[in-house]
Amino acid sequence: MNDKLNLSTSAPPTWYGSGLAHIWLPYVQMKTMRPPLAVARTQGSRIVLADGRELIDGIASWWTACHGYNHPHIRAAVERQLAIMPHVMLGGMVHEQALTLAQRLGALLPGDLDRVFFCESGSVAVEIALKMALQFWRNRRFHGRNKFVAFRGGYHGDTAAAMAVSDPETGFHDMFRGYLPEQLRFDLPGDDAGTSVLQAGLERHAEELAAIIVEPLAQGAGGMRFHDADVLRRLRALADRYELLLIFDEIFTGFGRTGTMFACEAAQVVPDIITLSKALTGGTLPLAATVARRKVFDAFWSDDPKQALMHGPTYMGNALACAAANASLDLFAREPRLQQVMAIAEQMARELAEVRDLPGVRDVRVLGAIGVVELERIDDLNGLRARFVAEGVFIRPFGNVVYLTPSFTIGAEELTALTGAIRKVLSTAP
Ligand SMILES: Cc1ncc(COP(=O)(O)O)c(C=O)c1O
Repeated sequence: MNDKLNLSTSAPPTWYGSGLAHIWLPYVQMKTMRPPLAVARTQGSRIVLADGRELIDGIASWWTACHGYNHPHIRAAVERQLAIMPHVMLGGMVHEQALTLAQRLGALLPGDLDRVFFCESGSVAVEIALKMALQFWRNRRFHGRNKFVAFRGGYHGDTAAAMAVSDPETGFHDMFRGYLPEQLRFDLPGDDAGTSVLQAGLERHAEELAAIIVEPLAQGAGGMRFHDADVLRRLRALADRYELLLIFDEIFTGFGRTGTMFACEAAQVVPDIITLSKALTGGTLPLAATVARRKVFDAFWSDDPKQALMHGPTYMGNALACAAANASLDLFAREPRLQQVMAIAEQMARELAEVRDLPGVRDVRVLGAIGVVELERIDDLNGLRARFVAEGVFIRPFGNVVYLTPSFTIGAEELTALTGAIRKVLSTAP
């Protein structure tokens, strides 16, 4: 792999040079950034660059490509759907792929989480969840419940309301303080003391609160931190006690990432609203869903048109994306994805344990198919990212964490190449 890397001398493709001056890329200072990688194609757990280099992918494109890239079953489903109908609006119309997917998600999710509202990105799914919670109370004639309880280290997206419930420091939104509505923020209640602090806050503010929002079991973009299922049971008990809605943002954790199909299953807690995206289409097309329990939906079921949910993204329920999601669910049903996640967890725990004693390593942790090496600090993030590419892997550290969220279909040798690259890069000076 490295030989191939070093031999690569080809000039960038013409689209690269002519387009780079016009695109605005995410999360990066474009003036000082290193040139982004030009990707030509993907296959399985491999990313093939335009210059012929091949990288083993440790991130699965922000945790979406759970079956690996270009899975033939998903591709065939999308191609079939493309020939029939790529898209129709859901205003006044429905179609087979969206209704089938809604019914399947309802059947898969625990309890009576079975009303599915589609949109096209995770942040928007969170916006819709928050809006649902606010209107739930208004429709029931409680007008002061306009605030949310959120947690330090949480990340729920980059749109305004989603930013407001994310941690301002770890969630990249500090700069928008003053514009965003202030929400109540606590540490996750990991023990009795933390629970008492949260409870006291709820006691004081219950009349102003609409809902509690949390990423169950794993806080992703806020720092790849894990917590016990017990935290979620405490949150359910407090939400019930103070009659608040409980929203689980499973955009990262949903579809097997933490070892069960949904993280809430591990705690046997049913939230009132759940948000899903990322792996919903197996990393093929943008799609997200906000799923509500019956009691939430019932608050909108009325003879009064004003009590309807006034939201409707243009591309909601896109037929191609729903076809991809239905095919992805077929794969979860017929292939041993959750066993693969457990095998990945065991292998990562074994292999990443070797970096635990390296200088600068603060913690190593694994939950399902999430492997994390937390460092004291990372001084040169872009330099570190480039060193992984030089090792033939795509690993994208952020903050002070180096992490792996591979596809569930990654081969054992490919995974060893990823953990080996982490060990090599962290144990040698730049
Ligand atoms: C838990 C969680 N919620 C929401 C989002 C936002 O999703 P999107 O980037 O699709 O808007 C993310 C994205 O990383 C996420 O991890």
